[in-house]
Amino acid sequence: MPRPPDPKTLGELKAAVGAGSWLDSPDSVEPYLSDFRRLYHGATPLVLLPRSVAEVAQILRICNREEVGVVPHGGNTSYCGGATPDETGSQIVLCLRQLHRVRQTDAANYSMVIEAGCTLAEAQAAAREADRLFPLSLGSEGTAQIGGNLSTNAGGTAVLRYGMMRDLVLGLEVVLADGRVLNGLKSLRKDNTGYDLKSLFVGAEGTLGVITAACLKLFPLPADTATALVGIDSPQRALDLLARLRTAAGDQVTSFELMPRLAVELTVQHVPGVANPLDQNSPWYLLIELSSPNPHQDLLTLLTATLEAAAERNTIVDAMLATSIAQAHAMWKLRESVPEAQRRHGASLKHDVSVPVSAIPVLIEEGSALVHRLAPEGDVIAYGHAGDGNLHFNVGQKPDTDIKSFMARGPVLELAVFDLVESLGGSISAEHGIGRLKAAEFARRADPAELDVMRDLKRALDPKGIMNPGKVLCER
Ligand code: MLT
Ligand code: ZN
Repeated sequence: MPRPPDPKTLGELKAAVGAGSWLDSPDSVEPYLSDFRRLYHGATPLVLLPRSVAEVAQILRICNREEVGVVPHGGNTSYCGGATPDETGSQIVLCLRQLHRVRQTDAANYSMVIEAGCTLAEAQAAAREADRLFPLSLGSEGTAQIGGNLSTNAGGTAVLRYGMMRDLVLGLEVVLADGRVLNGLKSLRKDNTGYDLKSLFVGAEGTLGVITAACLKLFPLPADTATALVGIDSPQRALDLLARLRTAAGDQVTSFELMPRLAVELTVQHVPGVANPLDQNSPWYLLIELSSPNPHQDLLTLLTATLEAAAERNTIVDAMLATSIAQAHAMWKLRESVPEAQRRHGASLKHDVSVPVSAIPVLIEEGSALVHRLAPEGDVIAYGHAGDGNLHFNVGQKPDTDIKSFMARGPVLELAVFDLVESLGGSISAEHGIGRLKAAEFARRADPAELDVMRDLKRALDPKGIMNPGKVLCER
């Protein structure tokens, strides 16, 4: 069992950041010990909050020499326990919050260099100040940090149009396990010099090094946006509508979010200020957004015409187009409050999965049958980013059921859902990462050759295994 670092090493680590940038009392480290979902509660002798890349490098040099595990920590909004130390008390927490400078925005190059500890909302605001868009968009953007977004390869509600975090990165600055700094902050769209190292660190959840800054891609700011909430009979009809929209509006289709009726009802019930603006109830709802930098596109007319044509063919049941920014915000609040409503309603079994978009209806139908059979105390709440094939195939505890027996269904149901996802050519982690939660399942299901290469890379970059031990790759 790994041992806590000795007092001399702890002293050296504190000296590396200086007074005011470390925490070691039980109360002060407490907020760093649990993940957002409270699945894990770990222990640590020390939380370090460096203010510079040089300090991060010094910390890692010491930890590598002494073989001390290091757990990088951002906004702590992740769902898989990737930023939480284990229970041994042997790992230190490295919080990137104090690295929060926007180092440069280059409007003409449509790029921005920003440090890992900036929140996603700060990154969006910095881009906006330069009259540009940074398009990653998530419910937790006010708290989630860029380093965590990169390390988990975050997705969110605009992936259909702009891609995931990996697609939005031009370059990275990374401190390696031995303290060397990989300065890859290039701002080029074209660069064919050797291996694409930055891609290794995106989605690695801090297991290969610590991302300290990134050069991110920017886009023109939208000057015209059209938003609608649509009632629909089935997921298949949703796909029919998506195809129509893509034909009509091409890549101006920015978001295409699916919610079942229960998700909408729970959100209205549990989250103050949320309402369903549609007159008729529908089994399913879509939140659709089109956007364009061209102010003369008249996307509202385009969306209206497309929805009218869909209504004539009975593809949709009901629709409401936002005619003001406030209405559009209210629709987004409805969608973004679904996780909160689920939390307030009771316990959840969550499955963040993706399948080819065409397989979404089968996933929902066969997955729901699994829930009825294997977790009868639960209701299916399958919602999410249907436009890119990512569903949060969640199961919420039914009222008046016993939480213990409901939660006890989790492991068997998870296996069955993952088997189904795999049979459809999907992924058991679409956008929330592997962390600690899915490490064993990932190891069991991954292609052996792929897993070997990942383990080889891990050994090459972190031979002493100090970087976020136990996350992503299990010990063999
Ligand atoms: C979402 O899309 O709302 C989140 O990724 C999933 C969640 O918070 O459950
Ligand atoms: Zn999501």
